[in-house]
Amino acid sequence: MVQLTLPKNSRMTTGKTWPKPAGATNVREFHIYRWNPDDGKNPAVDTYFVDLDTCGPMILDALIKIKNEIDPTLTFRRSCREGICGSCAMNIDGINTLACTYGMAEINGVVKIYPLPHMPVVKDLIPDLTHFYAQHASVKPWLETDTPAPAKEWKQSVEDRSKLDGLYECIMCACCSTSCPSYWWNGDRYLGPAALLHAYRWIIDSRDEGTGERLDDLEDPFKLYRCHTIMNCAKTCPKGLNPALAISQIKKLMVERTL
Ligand code: SF4
Ligand code: SF4
Ligand code: FES
Repeated sequence: MVQLTLPKNSRMTTGKTWPKPAGATNVREFHIYRWNPDDGKNPAVDTYFVDLDTCGPMILDALIKIKNEIDPTLTFRRSCREGICGSCAMNIDGINTLACTYGMAEINGVVKIYPLPHMPVVKDLIPDLTHFYAQHASVKPWLETDTPAPAKEWKQSVEDRSKLDGLYECIMCACCSTSCPSYWWNGDRYLGPAALLHAYRWIIDSRDEGTGERLDDLEDPFKLYRCHTIMNCAKTCPKGLNPALAISQIKKLMVERTL
């Protein structure tokens, strides 16, 4: 067993160490953040041991095994287990990523799992994303038009459609925003990389007729301009997207419209 080291002055405590699976010879150790809003205790880090010979290869497989066979109180979100729904985002081995697509083989030694950083926690590995979703809604992530709707569909050329590549794939997992230092400190007013990537996705959609209004809404010292191009967002995105680039494109459009 590896000695658990907690940060100095941390209010976290060393939690429970769960027994090793009997007879298992290929065991992996997990240190997992636990917090229950109903028991009045400080957060703790529990230690679990998983028999890898009877477990799938992904971090989510191990979490499900722990919940099913060791500790049913361990709480986390998951749905698709295919990297599509974004619900299993968490901090694994110091990286914000998806538990369902992150393999245990990518980690040496103990697997350390925490909720996404700098977010309120609902329980254990579940962050409260209420504010994050409200920011997403604030950029109006839908088609805005004044022209009457066509009888069948809004058409778009192949070339214009290709401009949405690298943007539409976002699964709103929040890995990027919760890795962004500007969002950590100013998340109440800075929209963060995920919401801004979505803002840009609609700004450059050739069918959208609300571009001017969308840019007006972002012309604000905090909403957009707190991005300092630190690039954590692009580094961590589990879908390989580049929110920092989208943000820089919005800033460029802001300048161009003043020329
Ligand atoms: S590039 Fe901008 S949005 Fe991305 S992590 Fe840095 S400050 Fe945050
Ligand atoms: S840009 Fe990437 S990291 Fe950010 S919410 Fe979308 S998929 Fe997740
Ligand atoms: S469970 Fe859906 S992205 Fe991981």
